[in-house]
Amino acid sequence: MESILLFVLPFVSLAAFLGWRYITSQSRSSKQHDSNEKGVLDEIDPYQDIEPLPDFDWKTTPPIKNAPLKPVYHLTMALENIPLSSLIDMDNTYLTRLHTRREIMTTHPTATIACTPCVPAVNELYTWLIKTYLPKRFPTIYIPTPTGGDILNTASSEIIPSVPPPDPTQALKVLGSHIDTDFLLLLPSSQSAKDGSPIYHLEAFVTCFPSGFSTRAKLSCPLAEIHAPVPGYTAKLEKSMDRFFARIECGRCVKRSNWSLTTNDLLFSEGGNHLYENGSTDYDAPHPNDNDDAKQNLSTEEQILRQKASVHIPSCRLRSERQTLFRLPQTQALVFAFKTYQYRLEEVKEFGDGYAERLAEAMEGLGKGNVPEMEFYKRGVVWRERVVEFLRS
Ligand code: HEM
Ligand SMILES: *[C@@H]1O[C@H](CO)[C@@H](O)[C@H](O)[C@H]1NC(C)=O
Ligand SMILES: *[C@@H]1O[C@H](CO)[C@@H](O)[C@H](O)[C@H]1NC(C)=O
Ligand SMILES: *[C@@H]1O[C@H](CO)[C@@H](O)[C@H](O)[C@H]1NC(C)=O
Repeated sequence: MESILLFVLPFVSLAAFLGWRYITSQSRSSKQHDSNEKGVLDEIDPYQDIEPLPDFDWKTTPPIKNAPLKPVYHLTMALENIPLSSLIDMDNTYLTRLHTRREIMTTHPTATIACTPCVPAVNELYTWLIKTYLPKRFPTIYIPTPTGGDILNTASSEIIPSVPPPDPTQALKVLGSHIDTDFLLLLPSSQSAKDGSPIYHLEAFVTCFPSGFSTRAKLSCPLAEIHAPVPGYTAKLEKSMDRFFARIECGRCVKRSNWSLTTNDLLFSEGGNHLYENGSTDYDAPHPNDNDDAKQNLSTEEQILRQKASVHIPSCRLRSERQTLFRLPQTQALVFAFKTYQYRLEEVKEFGDGYAERLAEAMEGLGKGNVPEMEFYKRGVVWRERVVEFLRS
């Protein structure tokens, strides 16, 4: 046994070393590096090398226009590399959002926060965000206190402990209370039956703003099961996503955005934003007095007609998520993070620059791409006519 180990170990170490060199060279390739006098490259840790925004003032920064509008909707990963520094986006909605997030976490504690026993990954995310990323990136908002290294949040005038609370759900709650971004942690919890490659499962989350799904119902699930209701996922995304998740290197960060239209302004929504192929309309009436179609045994067509009739333009929101994905170096967990944007349709019309028309075209294009069922899934059959008419009026 020992002699086998003696034989194998050098190869394993060599392979590990080469793997490390490969990973570090990958994460470096996009950056400029100074070499010292000896011509040796300085080792740069991408997790420490965060570019600061020294003059950032969240109060005067309007939210970005995030929705990716395409005249034809094609279901693809559509990922774009971004610097790890750009992981979190902030704007003048910050403090209001923090209040909303805290309210939602209080009223829906088990729907917004959960974790399996994956404490090290939660702690790694917490420590890196609070001690390194936030104070480095936003030095005007998150300021290390002179004693003990805790962080002062200057927007809320609160101290954030730099050491994660022992209970991981508390750690997640602190993140959810101080950052207007939802976080989901994934780990390679199973292997593909075909080739043994790792399959990522959702193992922890703090999501205050789910757009029409129950995050807790997805805990422990692999990506494919999480996306089961998404039409076209198996055919168009599953393979490439599993491959991508298995391979994303340390130090790399990717971004994608999506959009939809919601007929209410609820940021926390465990149902109601989708129609499913099985005919379930998943309709959460925003007010208890509104119709409760499913209970009345109406056919899908009848439900759609009724929902169409109750589309109320001032209640509608263009909703969009800026989603990012990166790997934590120690635990190798993947962090899927998203910030939610909401725009009133009146506001959209004031964007100018043809934005309202491009949105109208994108709405009409939902059913014209590689997965026409997307229009049904996103409830376009309910809101499209009325909303497009308004955007062009
Ligand atoms: C970067 C890779 C990912 C891609 C390309 C992707 C793609 C999609 C797409 C196309 C949809 C349909 C809604 C839309 O965006 O228009 C969707 C829905 C969803 N995704 Fe992802 N996704 C990704 C990662 C994740 C991760 C990591 C999670 C959670 C751990 C997740 C959770 C969900 C959930 C919960 C839904 C809603 C499903 C429902 O209706 O119940 N996604 N995703
Ligand atoms: C229909 O499908 C959705 C999404 O997969 C699921 O949540 C719901 O329970 C299903 N409803 C029925 C009646 O089968
Ligand atoms: C965007 O995608 C996420 C996850 O991939 C999904 O949970 C969410 O419902 C989508 N949101 C919108 C506004 O389309
Ligand atoms: C709906 O259908 C179920 C089962 O078919 C029945 O038990 C129930 O009484 C019906 N409800 C109404 C309001 O018609």
